[in-house]
Amino acid sequence: MLNKERLLGFLFVINIILIILYIMYLSHDQHANKSDQTLPYKAHSLGRSHYQSKTEQSVKNVAVSNTITNFEVIPSRSDLTNNSYFIKTGLNKAYFWLERKHDSQYEGIQRLKEYCNSPYDKVSGEEGVVPTDYKVVSVHVLIRHGDRTPMIPVNNLNISCNFDDIVNRSILLQRYLEYMKSYAVWKNNPFSAILSPFPNSAVCSLSQLTGQGAMQHLNNGDFLRNVYIKRWKLLEDDGLRQKSEVHVRSTVYSRTYQSAVAFLFGFIPNFKLEALPIKPQAGIYFCSTYHTGFNCACAAASQYHSMAEKARSTISKNDKLWLSVKRDLLKMVKNGQQWLNGLFDISTAHICHGIVPPCFTPGCMKEYINMTSRVIKVKDRLGHENIYNEAYQKFQRLAIHPLIFEIALRMFNQTRSLNVPKFVLYSGHDLTVTALSVALGVNNGEWPKYATRFVLELIQSKNGSKFYIRAIFNGKDITSKVLFCQGKLEEGLCPANEFFMFVLKEHIRKYFDDSSYFKACLKANI
Ligand SMILES: *[C@@H]1O[C@H](CO)[C@@H](O)[C@H](O)[C@H]1NC(C)=O
Ligand SMILES: *[C@@H]1O[C@H](CO)[C@@H](O)[C@H](O)[C@H]1NC(C)=O
Ligand SMILES: *[C@@H]1O[C@H](CO)[C@@H](O)[C@H](O)[C@H]1NC(C)=O
Ligand SMILES: *[C@@H]1O[C@H](CO)[C@@H](O)[C@H](O)[C@H]1NC(C)=O
Ligand SMILES: *[C@@H]1O[C@H](CO)[C@@H](O)[C@H](O)[C@H]1NC(C)=O
Ligand SMILES: *[C@@H]1O[C@H](CO)[C@@H](O)[C@H](O)[C@H]1NC(C)=O
Repeated sequence: MLNKERLLGFLFVINIILIILYIMYLSHDQHANKSDQTLPYKAHSLGRSHYQSKTEQSVKNVAVSNTITNFEVIPSRSDLTNNSYFIKTGLNKAYFWLERKHDSQYEGIQRLKEYCNSPYDKVSGEEGVVPTDYKVVSVHVLIRHGDRTPMIPVNNLNISCNFDDIVNRSILLQRYLEYMKSYAVWKNNPFSAILSPFPNSAVCSLSQLTGQGAMQHLNNGDFLRNVYIKRWKLLEDDGLRQKSEVHVRSTVYSRTYQSAVAFLFGFIPNFKLEALPIKPQAGIYFCSTYHTGFNCACAAASQYHSMAEKARSTISKNDKLWLSVKRDLLKMVKNGQQWLNGLFDISTAHICHGIVPPCFTPGCMKEYINMTSRVIKVKDRLGHENIYNEAYQKFQRLAIHPLIFEIALRMFNQTRSLNVPKFVLYSGHDLTVTALSVALGVNNGEWPKYATRFVLELIQSKNGSKFYIRAIFNGKDITSKVLFCQGKLEEGLCPANEFFMFVLKEHIRKYFDDSSYFKACLKANI
């Protein structure tokens, strides 16, 4: 029985990998070197020369000088910005352009800034904020990787995957780079011997974590260290017991792995890469037969997924706003790329990196920013429409069920004083974050920003008799919005039993009318 389940699980994983490879194959531009791009790890850069001719390069230089005269830099936060610094380096021109006062004319500009998630902003949030007489006893964090390069090749887009531009901007970053120096080549890397644990190339290839992306997670980790380690003493301070107190899994992509490393460097005092295993996770929804006993090959989930994709493609084919944004964008990037997420990627990449967009006429920068802010609105709206796509919702619920089960089980074990890790980190993707928020009933369709963090805390009353949970999304306490917590809060905390009952019973019963995950997986039923 067990062997059969293992085999099915294995076949499922293989299947998913094939599907992903196929999607990547479909979505790539003709000029691209396909075999390189389908590799899950890209430790070595591809180089941009494939897609960049000499003429393009000279046009780019003209565009750069245009932009510097047309768009002066007006930073708004004196602590983080330094006019002469930015003018000298050209760093973050467009990002800081967004800071200008009149930017309210552009619909969606606030949203775009939020999405980019500037690594120079101070991280803050309501993590660990509990009433007196309660304490935080365990923490479960799902992150989306930090800022990355686009998934498809873009003309003239040269984003560095190192820290040359930003190294002087953060002491934490300098410590991290100093430490990572000796791991530039690390043969014992559990993910791959050719994979660097930190962004480390002068030119990024596709889908790579950038220096900015690593810095976002250093900041996240550093903030949460202050909350959970300094304030709540969740872990032993010397970091020596890391192994049993911390559990970390990352999907098998360089961007998620490097994000996890950066986060942990910020989070764990005296962090030691070798002392803290980061376990590779096949599948972006973190289903683990080992931790849950579930069979990860859920047939109904795949069926719902294909139904949902059909519905989605019909929607985007007929969406007027999307079609018009796409037309404008294609004119500018001249890339022939039609893939929805690929196009979203291109427009945000320029803006989030302050790179001059591919346009060569006066006023074109404004147009580009305007368009990009429309793009993100469309993406959010299409995400919102998924809320009404029943197959999509069901797919996400089944896909993420094993993960919420695992989190609940670990919390439950802790309420029974079993020895379980007190800090768990899952390093995943936008889709993972979205599925978790769907399952908890807090999804609003918005595309999760880079380096999003979704935190679930287990809280204990000081007298030890009662347990609660809290949910915090990007620093915001959303416990009262969580489906099974509504109307059940005690002093702002959600009784842990509500979560346990939801995961063990209600989730499947309510949405699938079945008694178990196993049964719900047998066949899609709409
Ligand atoms: C701003 O940057 C310039 C050039 O990098 C530097 O000389 C100057 O000291 C900086 N000013 C502040 C206030 O940091
Ligand atoms: C990309 O940028 C890096 C760092 O600024 C530079 O060394 C390299 O020559 C650039 N490559 C291209 C193809 O523009
Ligand atoms: C960072 O600081 C060092 C030492 O002060 C200096 O040599 C280097 O040029 C600076 N880098 C940047 C990008 O400003
Ligand atoms: C942004 O683009 C829209 C649609 O093309 C246009 O109506 C609007 O005036 C533009 N806004 C600015 C500030 O350029
Ligand atoms: C919870 O405890 C049970 C019983 O000791 C154990 O079998 C299971 O693996 C534990 N699960 C987790 C996620 O801690
Ligand atoms: C322990 O604390 C909880 C929450 O503050 C309270 O509801 C409960 O009555 C207390 N139990 C005892 C035995 O004091």
